[in-house]
Amino acid sequence: MAHTYKDAVAKLEADHDRIESLFEKVDKASGADKRRLGIHAANLVKIHMTLEEEFFYPALRGKGDDDKITEGLVEHDAGKFLINDILSADTDDDSFGPKVQVLGEQMEHHHKEEEQDGKGVFDQARRADIDLVAMLDAMTKREDELRAQLAKDDLPDWDMNFVDAAQST
Ligand SMILES: [Fe+2]
Ligand SMILES: [Fe+2]
Repeated sequence: MAHTYKDAVAKLEADHDRIESLFEKVDKASGADKRRLGIHAANLVKIHMTLEEEFFYPALRGKGDDDKITEGLVEHDAGKFLINDILSADTDDDSFGPKVQVLGEQMEHHHKEEEQDGKGVFDQARRADIDLVAMLDAMTKREDELRAQLAKDDLPDWDMNFVDAAQST
């Protein structure tokens, strides 16, 4: 399969850039546009986190700094509460904007942590014995499935306590 990206980490970093520029657009938008772009941003984060939780973080577990891995997943779980709120139809207009704003700020912080030079989980994965090219193939297939699901319906509900679930297996 031909890819635009070198490996799974390059793809995840490109997602970060896309997500951050989308949050900048949401920030400048208003009314119906803000709602549409905000929902799109929340869904993009949801797909990105799902790919990281299904492929990236489990592959790194035991091969990197476990505290950093858990910290990343705790940040995901914290973001999920806001994402669920943003994607629920009954979020009113007054709280929609602030919720998307806070999610954008949380994600900016989270992306910095994942991308941190040397210590971040992405650099850990680059140093570890993990086939990041095979991971990119698997991720791309899964992303196609999730996008197809999103096009006809909503994405599946979150496993809300992913950190604890991941540690008990
Ligand atoms: Fe993440
Ligand atoms: Fe990420």
